Amino acid sequence: MATTNTFTATLLFIFFCVFFFLATPTSSSTQEQHEEELLLDFKSAINDPASALSDWSPETSPKSHFCNWTGVSCSAINTVASLELPHLNLSGDISASACLFPHLSSLNLAHNNFNSSIPLHLSQCTGLRTLNLSHNSFWGTLPDQISDLASLQSLDLSSNRLEGRIPLSLGSLIGLQVLNLGANLFAGTVDPSIFANLTQLVVLDLSQNPNLGSELPEEIGSLGKLRSISMQNSRFYGKIPFTFLSLSELEVLDLSQNNFTGNIPLGFGFGNRKLVTLDLSQNKLSGLFPADVCFGKALVELSLHDNSFIGVIANSSLGNCSALQRFQVQNNGFGGAFPSGLWSLPDIRLVRAENNRFSGQIPELASIPPRLEQVQIDNNSFSGGIPQNLGLINTLYRFSASLNRLNGSLPENFCDSPVLSIINLSHNSLSGPIPELRNCKRLVSLYLADNSFTGKIPPSLGHLPVLTYIDLSSNKLSGEIPQELSNLKLALFNVSFNQLSGNVPPSLISGLPASYLQGNPDLCGPGLPNQCDLPPRRRSPRTGELILVLILVLAILGFLLFAAGYFAVYQKFEEKAKNTDCWKFVFFYPIKVAEEELFAGLNDKNVRGRGAFGKVYVIKLHCGEFVAVKRLVNSGNLSLRAIKSEMKLLAKARHRNINKVLGFCFSEGEVLIFYEYVKNGSLGDVLYRSDFVLEWNERVKIALGIAQGLVYLHKDYVPRMLHRDLKSNNVLLDDDLEPRITGFGLDRVLGEASYRLSMASELSSCCYIAPEHGCNKKATDLTDVYSFGVILLELITGRPAEQPASRESVDIVKWVRRKVNTTDGSLQVLDRRISVVAQREMLRALDLALRCTSVMPQIRPAMDEVVRTLQSLYYVARPPSVLSIETSLE
Ligand SMILES: *[C@@H]1O[C@H](CO)[C@@H](O)[C@H](O)[C@H]1NC(C)=O
Ligand SMILES: *[C@@H]1O[C@H](CO)[C@@H](O)[C@H](O)[C@H]1NC(C)=O
Ligand SMILES: *[C@@H]1O[C@H](CO)[C@@H](O)[C@H](O)[C@H]1NC(C)=O
Ligand SMILES: *[C@@H]1O[C@H](CO)[C@@H](O)[C@H](O)[C@H]1NC(C)=O
Ligand SMILES: *[C@@H]1O[C@H](CO)[C@@H](O)[C@H](O)[C@H]1NC(C)=O
Ligand SMILES: *[C@@H]1O[C@H](CO)[C@@H](O)[C@H](O)[C@H]1NC(C)=O
Ligand SMILES: *[C@@H]1O[C@H](CO)[C@@H](O)[C@H](O)[C@H]1NC(C)=O
Ligand SMILES: *[C@@H]1O[C@H](CO)[C@@H](O)[C@H](O)[C@H]1NC(C)=O
Ligand SMILES: *[C@@H]1O[C@H](CO)[C@@H](O)[C@H](O)[C@H]1NC(C)=O
Repeated sequence: MATTNTFTATLLFIFFCVFFFLATPTSSSTQEQHEEELLLDFKSAINDPASALSDWSPETSPKSHFCNWTGVSCSAINTVASLELPHLNLSGDISASACLFPHLSSLNLAHNNFNSSIPLHLSQCTGLRTLNLSHNSFWGTLPDQISDLASLQSLDLSSNRLEGRIPLSLGSLIGLQVLNLGANLFAGTVDPSIFANLTQLVVLDLSQNPNLGSELPEEIGSLGKLRSISMQNSRFYGKIPFTFLSLSELEVLDLSQNNFTGNIPLGFGFGNRKLVTLDLSQNKLSGLFPADVCFGKALVELSLHDNSFIGVIANSSLGNCSALQRFQVQNNGFGGAFPSGLWSLPDIRLVRAENNRFSGQIPELASIPPRLEQVQIDNNSFSGGIPQNLGLINTLYRFSASLNRLNGSLPENFCDSPVLSIINLSHNSLSGPIPELRNCKRLVSLYLADNSFTGKIPPSLGHLPVLTYIDLSSNKLSGEIPQELSNLKLALFNVSFNQLSGNVPPSLISGLPASYLQGNPDLCGPGLPNQCDLPPRRRSPRTGELILVLILVLAILGFLLFAAGYFAVYQKFEEKAKNTDCWKFVFFYPIKVAEEELFAGLNDKNVRGRGAFGKVYVIKLHCGEFVAVKRLVNSGNLSLRAIKSEMKLLAKARHRNINKVLGFCFSEGEVLIFYEYVKNGSLGDVLYRSDFVLEWNERVKIALGIAQGLVYLHKDYVPRMLHRDLKSNNVLLDDDLEPRITGFGLDRVLGEASYRLSMASELSSCCYIAPEHGCNKKATDLTDVYSFGVILLELITGRPAEQPASRESVDIVKWVRRKVNTTDGSLQVLDRRISVVAQREMLRALDLALRCTSVMPQIRPAMDEVVRTLQSLYYVARPPSVLSIETSLE
């Protein structure tokens, strides 16, 4: 097969030679014409989807000379000298015409999409000095004929899919300076004799050939011009040849991620004085630290991590490492005292020495390293204190020294670096107070778990703007959890097993697993074993019972008082009802409500709902129609004028997912709002009926409708409006299960103060209210998003927002969060009455609901994003089974 190929290629070649001969130019212009034709021939075999070679055309006007075409360079006599065509999305074939340019010395087709074997006819490009086919999809073997390219100085075939052995014939390319065969599928062993004559080699890259299993040829050690050897991540094994010591020009040696064994040859670095990078990491090397590695003072990067080195790293062996920036010896068996000279290196940036057996003190800093960014020395046997001057390194970004035996207290300034982002001192024996941290404004993670810290949690933590992970568990901290921490957007706040007491800030309870607070018997708050309205001290059962009785008595008294008050108000109302003169009626739609029928209808028999602001009645009018009436206590003292203009705003909101406001009537102290009647009742009623199950696609449709209604209020309606009391009982369902939002914008009618008062007095809907609302924050559309998220959770779980009181659950958001934190918990929260077919979509909806109910408002998606997500779920849930619910309400 190969011979026929060669045969055809030769024939072709002869053909071209003859052609070439026949067309032999008698003048330079015919030669130029010929080269132009060759270029066009080259182009015709290539796919050029991006039309990168569109100017390769003799028909452009004004006519452009081919020497000016994209990627073409010519020699002085206007013949093609190089084709530089990288990064052009080219594919197709490399035509044989490429090798008919008499002066072509460089062909670069790197970073294209060629997907073929390496064409044999390339071996006819004997004038080539540079061949670069890297980053394509060339496959097959590297042909032996490569040796015909006798002038080749640079061969880059990296990042293709070449396979088979590396051909021995490469060894005859004695002019080769760059040989890059990295990131291919070459296999087998490397024949050492390849390198015998490659004395000009400067760059050798055989890295990332996962099947290339070989010992390192000693011959490489005699290629005295080598500056860079990259052999990482292949399957080399055996020892590092002693001959490598004589590579005096060597700057980069990367032998990482192989199977090398044995020691680093003694004197390494002594003969390699220009060494800049030495990466021997992730092998099976053993023995001692290479004492001379910095002999030439050029070393910048030293990586010995993940091997089996042992022994001490003598202070003196770092003496000449004045250029060292990165020092990585983690995951070895180094022991003894830590080399104190490391801190004094003028350019040191990264120190990683975790998982070794270093002992003794962490050396004090003799001078402040001006560029040190990261120190990781976890899991050693360091004892003694934290270096006093740590806080003076103002480039320090990470310091972790967990799992040691450090003791003493934290220096006051330990966190003074303005860029400090990660501190991990967990699992030590540190004691004393945690200092106030004020200067490390970029701190993200603070891990101090499992020490013996005492005193309070510093309130200043609450003012570190990006602090996200706090683990203070298993210490001896006492006092209250500072309210300031509510400012933070915490993803982790673990204070379990301390001696903390008092009220837990609400935002820290919701959204974080309960286990993060456990082991602090004196903490109190919703969802914890202790409620805060009881004295937080531990009580004997007797006093506990007494208190319970007391509360009961108080509750009964309170109820009696309330009943009396209510009666009085009711009487007053009845009086007013009779004295209808004071009632002003305003209608925005042509309905007729006679006063008599209205007041006759306002009796308990017609109550259909109760909320924070009063009852909702459904009244049958004379004409046979129904109207829903919401009766608000108007303690806000708004005038009729003001209320009328606000009501007009509510009535003007028209959207198919918004329940119409038909009109209102007003008297001092009260407002009755007339709403369009929707006979199927509210989502709350329908969702929890035991005799009727909403299907998943119906639930998605309902969620989508609510979301669209909210987008209308938030974005499309002018003026923009918030709902502020969204809950499943404020979502009505029409015959097609199309939701209609009602009860929105009452804050406008009541006034903010009176609105907040009513909301606060109403506990049954408190779980719909975003946590930040409790902090008297201004309501935003993101508070509505939270309430929407709660409804979505109700739709997904089939559980009421207010969970039946039980030990483990407070409201649906917390219940779900606690569940989903456990394995398979996400599946457990899904409504079991819905077929598992919908499981994937339900989990996606759950994901959305969790984002909507995030403690941190800025993480919640805007309603229009919610709509988009639900739409994609809705189209998956299609086709909706036609199902209109029985109208039993009539
Ligand atoms: C190459 O193709 C990719 C997609 O196949 C495209 O993203 C890229 O922009 C193209 N590059 C050029 C230079 O046309
Ligand atoms: C290439 O174009 C430049 C101007 O754009 C022109 O001066 C030059 O002569 C052209 N080269 C050739 C070989 O035509
Ligand atoms: C090959 O070409 C690519 C793209 O132009 C370039 O990045 C790479 O350095 C070249 N290889 C060599 C050995 O010059
Ligand atoms: C190369 O071509 C083969 C066969 O046509 C095809 O299976 C493969 O996906 C292609 N590879 C690339 C990277 O285009
Ligand atoms: C290296 O050169 C010597 C002498 O020129 C020659 O005998 C030997 O075959 C060459 N080796 C290779 C692998 O080409
Ligand atoms: C190292 O050698 C072992 C067998 O000795 C083999 O299983 C493993 O894949 C090799 N690892 C590498 C990176 O070559
Ligand atoms: C440091 O370098 C000097 C010469 O540059 C040499 O004399 C000395 O021995 C070196 N010390 C170490 C520890 O390599
Ligand atoms: C280690 O070397 C540094 C400078 O290279 C020096 O300041 C320090 O005193 C030395 N420490 C010991 C213990 O020799
Ligand atoms: C600590 O280092 C030892 C080896 O020194 C290792 O076996 C152990 O797994 C490491 N522990 C952790 C938690 O990384």
